[in-house]
Amino acid sequence: MCALLVAGFALPPTAAAVETSVVCPVDPLPVTSAQTDALFALAAGRLYAASDITGLKPPGVKYPFGATARQTQYLRSDVYGWTAGFYPAELWLMYERTADPAWLALARTWTRNLLPVAKWTGSHDLGFMIGLPAGLGMRLDPDPAQRITYRRAIIDAAKSLSTRWNNKVKAIKSGEYGGKWGLIIDSAMNAPMLIEAGNLIGGAEGAQLRSRGEQHLLTLAKYFVRSDGSTFHRLTFNPLTGALTGPVYGQGYNMSTSTWSRGQAWAMYGFAKGYAATGNPILLDAARRTTGFWNQQVGPGCIPAWDLDVWSAFAPRDSSAAAIAAAAMLQLADLDPVTSAASRQSALATLGTLTMPEWTSVNTQNPGILIRQTWNVPILKYEGSYVWGDAYLLESALKVSRPTSR
Ligand code: GLY
Repeated sequence: MCALLVAGFALPPTAAAVETSVVCPVDPLPVTSAQTDALFALAAGRLYAASDITGLKPPGVKYPFGATARQTQYLRSDVYGWTAGFYPAELWLMYERTADPAWLALARTWTRNLLPVAKWTGSHDLGFMIGLPAGLGMRLDPDPAQRITYRRAIIDAAKSLSTRWNNKVKAIKSGEYGGKWGLIIDSAMNAPMLIEAGNLIGGAEGAQLRSRGEQHLLTLAKYFVRSDGSTFHRLTFNPLTGALTGPVYGQGYNMSTSTWSRGQAWAMYGFAKGYAATGNPILLDAARRTTGFWNQQVGPGCIPAWDLDVWSAFAPRDSSAAAIAAAAMLQLADLDPVTSAASRQSALATLGTLTMPEWTSVNTQNPGILIRQTWNVPILKYEGSYVWGDAYLLESALKVSRPTSR
């Protein structure tokens, strides 16, 4: 049976082709170095343009957040937004790619302005906000004094997260959902920072941070991963007994039965990172099962709708979920000989699609890089470009294009 073509893309050749949650290229191909070169050329222009904050009023609103499809200027957040770390992370990745001191200077400035947030206990997202850019700075900054500053911020941020620990649920509180003590699957990406900081500090305090980070991931693996490898988005618990009280609505289509695409990708990557940091086989199993579900539902080179249970080829896409999933699969490929070849092949094909002009801003005036992402469809149903999808696309593209000797 012929595949159904939609704007140059083909839906899987099944009888129910119009009722699919994914769109796929006719012939998914692995990403090429010409595609990654073009991506980084585009990124250089977009990221440099966004660093010009002339006309923005400090203090406050200035970190790029995203833009819907037709917007030509970024909406920006203050340093307390959960997305504030992604733009600095992109600047570090540009520095890693080019070794150009101009990118180093920008990455330092945009990271340094964020670091006071490390002492804030009001968010569970400090792994994204501090751990990601400061972790890149610790790895890439040539100046030892700067690296010490980033190291201190990671430790401070982990200690801040640790104040949100609940010993009954055995997890770091994500937030109040519907007035109840809640966990969100995205937190899989924040918990690894506790393990990393624990390793940096050592001793009893370090062991506690490490144990809390690992235990948080184990709690997510126990409650959020369904038997088929799909995931819940938000769950609430009784903080006095630790008992699960049930799912609540978040960004997905159905709080009980559906799988929010980006949440699945956060789970894949968080569990893979957790396994890398601990060697715990339960986390490897969670990474394998969530990745297996992704590949079964989405498939190499295909891009999902914002929720994997929204069966319409015309529903908003979430290309950011695909970019995060690609980054997750590249990480898992490095760790797990059993699934390595399949994960790598799927990641390369996904990047092959995401770096095609249909999925980047190259032919648009949009200030971001990866288009056709979604933020929170129940609130805003339009596609756009957002800094998290851009950051994980650059991370993955850099990883597959980096000479192996580097
Ligand atoms: N962490 C929030 C999101 O992925 O939208």
